Amino acid sequence: MTTPPTPVLAGNWKMNHDPASTRVFFERFLRLHGLRTGATVIVFPPAISLEAARSALGERRDVQLGVQNVHWESSGAFTGEISAHMAGGAGARYALVGHSERRQLFSEADADVARKTCAVLTAGLIPVVCVGETLEDRRAGRANDVVTRQLGRVLDAVRDASGIVVAYEPVWAIGTGETASPEDAQAMHDSIRTQLASGGKATVPILYGGSVKPENAATLLAQPDVDGLLVGGASVDPQSFATICAAGA
Ligand code: PGA
Repeated sequence: MTTPPTPVLAGNWKMNHDPASTRVFFERFLRLHGLRTGATVIVFPPAISLEAARSALGERRDVQLGVQNVHWESSGAFTGEISAHMAGGAGARYALVGHSERRQLFSEADADVARKTCAVLTAGLIPVVCVGETLEDRRAGRANDVVTRQLGRVLDAVRDASGIVVAYEPVWAIGTGETASPEDAQAMHDSIRTQLASGGKATVPILYGGSVKPENAATLLAQPDVDGLLVGGASVDPQSFATICAAGA
């Protein structure tokens, strides 16, 4: 699996856009977002809208698709779950793993995130591994420790980390309108880069996520260790996501 070209501009729709509104989104987005090489644009629709996204994209190979979550097994009696293998068959090339909403609302532990990352790699997809501290962690001065632990569990589990993408998403910045300052984001990305480099994987892209908007995208991307953005709320609207993608051009 090759490392995606940077910057990576990724949109996590969360539980938004059914198949019909997915088609409307892409109709507008593809008009606004010109064909471009040298950057990677990924959209993570709900799994039920993946097929609608794939057919709406048609021949546009410059926009990739991903899923927001997978199970670690490839098939079996796991009601309500989908596997990385199935996601690949449905057109996904990426899978989010360990998003903080999965960790907090669905009790995903570090060990689950590690298993899922391995499953995504085995299926030939690229895992976007999400890490990030809570406000409580940050106030207690343990933001770096938490992120190092979360990433460390994944790095210990995978045989080769060169096929992963990391997303640093401070939990207190997600959906709150409060973005990490470019300096805080850079400081954490630098620490993640150092951790990856100690395993010889300094080229793994590191994305920032948490209240990214058209107004702050360029400043965040200008930080030396910010290789891309993982956008939640602002990716649901085609105009604002296209503006964010243009900031990475
Ligand atoms: P947000 O979400 O941009 O709405 O803060 C980011 C994310 O959860 O990936």
